[in-house]
Amino acid sequence: MKRTGIIGTGKYLPENVLTNAALEKMVDTSDEWIITRTGIKERRIAADNEATSDMAVKASKQALSNAGLKPSDIDVIIVATITPDMFFPSTACQVQYKLGAPNVAAFDVSVACSGYVYGLAIADQFIRGGLYKRALVIASEKLSSVTDWEDRSTCVLFGDGAGAAVLEQVDEGGILGVHLGSDGSKGDLLQLPAGGSRMPASIKTVENKLHTIKMEGNVLFKHAVKIMADAALAVTEPLGMKGDDIDLIIPHQANIRILNALAKKMGVDPEKKVYLNIEKYGNMSAASSAVALTEAVEEGRIKKGDRILMDAFGGGLTWGALVIEW
Ligand code: ACO
Repeated sequence: MKRTGIIGTGKYLPENVLTNAALEKMVDTSDEWIITRTGIKERRIAADNEATSDMAVKASKQALSNAGLKPSDIDVIIVATITPDMFFPSTACQVQYKLGAPNVAAFDVSVACSGYVYGLAIADQFIRGGLYKRALVIASEKLSSVTDWEDRSTCVLFGDGAGAAVLEQVDEGGILGVHLGSDGSKGDLLQLPAGGSRMPASIKTVENKLHTIKMEGNVLFKHAVKIMADAALAVTEPLGMKGDDIDLIIPHQANIRILNALAKKMGVDPEKKVYLNIEKYGNMSAASSAVALTEAVEEGRIKKGDRILMDAFGGGLTWGALVIEW
């Protein structure tokens, strides 16, 4: 059976750079703490008039151009985001309209940081099942819009950005295996409590800052290392692959210490085999691995025939790992 491959990638990062030095003036933190505890030096912040769909469209145009395709060549649009323009219409519908794509299927996927891997996995099934020929998978996040800028334990971590990929059937390589999972019992470790049906927006929810990200970072940290390592194993083992068989790992970029621990568990050299861009962008949720994949391609870190492991973990909890031969 023919597999699904990625035939073009794209990204968009807002111009505005927020450095650790600037954060030192906003909350009680230090450049040294942020770098040693997270690996982050700076992050991008979208403009006030720049919404998630605007960033998604820019990344998509680049992915389409790199694939040598037009919006009219796409059969389905999937947007991974936890910061949609609004509850509804979906961000994917906004992207469909703004791209000028025909009236194709378009929907959002809400699985936090694992969203890009989930989106690629869904597109793979659509294409292999024969329903659609080509898919546009986008991960776009404006986390700055749901960040409590007075909470030093979260505001130093997040950034904004978008990445996109075009997928279609390929003759060689493609997606070799996928593993997705969730554990809702630990949902309260990372959440945006208000604004939904459980706790609709009110003066009280705004006053109590319940429309911003709440996170139990140190508990999540331990889960992240174990879950990402288990997910990597769950996707590579059935393929008969070990750490050595993977040419590059494109992980979700939540914390450099999580990624070093993951590399150790997998027995690979983090310098050589783990792609990192957390230093420049922080944690952009689903967009982190999408931008990382795009930049790894741009920098020539991925060559034809390479085996890439994408491995993500996030709120939900959710996780997703995928092996693709380039
Ligand atoms: N500057 C200075 N000190 C700080 C800061 C800061 N920005 N933030 C916290 N501290 C302090 C704390 O108050 C605490 O002080 P105390 O010891 O006096 O109480 C101390 O630093 C240690 O705090 P911890 O929370 O234990 O720090 P930790 O080493 O765990 O690092 C971090 C925190 C970076 C959040 C880490 O736990 C982490 O990366 N967790 C995982 C996050 C993750 O994977 N999230 C899921 C994906 S994200 C998504 O889905 C959107």
